[in-house]
Amino acid sequence: MSTFSQAPTKRRLQIEHLLSPQSARTDDGDDVVRGLTQTPKTLPPRYFYDDRGSQLFEQICDLPEYYPTRTEAAILEQYASEVARMTGACELVELGSGSSRKTRLLLDAYQDLGYSLRYVPIDVSAGILQESAEKLLEDYPSLQVRGLVSTYEQALAQLQPTTLPARMIFFLGSTIGNLNPQECDRFLTQITTALEPGDYFLLGIDLQKPLEILEAAYNDSQGITAAFNLNMLNHLNWRFQGNFEPNLFKHWAFFNQENSQIEMHLQCQQDCTVSLKALDLTVNFSEGETIHTEISRKFNLEKMRQYLAKQGLQPLHTWTDKNDWFALLLCQLQ
Ligand code: AVI
Repeated sequence: MSTFSQAPTKRRLQIEHLLSPQSARTDDGDDVVRGLTQTPKTLPPRYFYDDRGSQLFEQICDLPEYYPTRTEAAILEQYASEVARMTGACELVELGSGSSRKTRLLLDAYQDLGYSLRYVPIDVSAGILQESAEKLLEDYPSLQVRGLVSTYEQALAQLQPTTLPARMIFFLGSTIGNLNPQECDRFLTQITTALEPGDYFLLGIDLQKPLEILEAAYNDSQGITAAFNLNMLNHLNWRFQGNFEPNLFKHWAFFNQENSQIEMHLQCQQDCTVSLKALDLTVNFSEGETIHTEISRKFNLEKMRQYLAKQGLQPLHTWTDKNDWFALLLCQLQ
């Protein structure tokens, strides 16, 4: 146990805000203008996540049709101790930590082996980061947390050297599937730059599986995924003084076999014109036209292993569930 073990939670928590108000202002909305003025229209998935969108996403994770969250959690429940044994003591850096639900399974494993617990959650949402860090500190008396309110890019570029023997960056939930191949290349370059040789990267990926299972996961019977998709329009209205009428749009999600990805779109049900005053933007929509809001790639395990190795992240071990629906890969920087 470290000498900090009995310190009150406040002294074990440090939160840094790396999102400068200026950088947030200058690029805010440029991507919306670009997306809505191109054909076909697109919107970046980051606009899903206002407070309501984050709540809806939490609900999605508990849906009977949405298998990824519970499948990955079951893998971690079974194998987190193997991960900890393979890495030894290390600083745990989580990208997109959100509510840190699955983090506890890793913390338990490192704690059981008697390792010092250092956790660096990274998230753009200050509220959820602070709240979940405080809960973790109450439950893990020796834990030290340095939370970074930041984009992945900024945080990865500013990680401080760790005093523990190694560092493990982990990226769960197959969020990597929301990046297109170019974005994925760029992202992994940021990871390999942030790590030292010998450090670890733990990645959760959703695997290819029968079409009906995939499509049901993004078209749930309670309509929560539809609400999540449509909420992006409310978010844009609030953020950029817009007048989207979400009831004129319909959620549309399907599996694109050729690219092995779920695609989510919003389909316009009648001709309409939308303006976003704060962006000085007016956009016409015709009936049937779509806005592409998200891709969620479903991976082939062997190809992913080869791809990671090519990026310098050598896969050491892979754990999957009994159906091979989801995989957790532990890689080491060469
Ligand atoms: C965050 N991400 C991994 C989710 C996914 O499955 O691609 C987002 C999501 N979109 C609709 N449902 C869940």
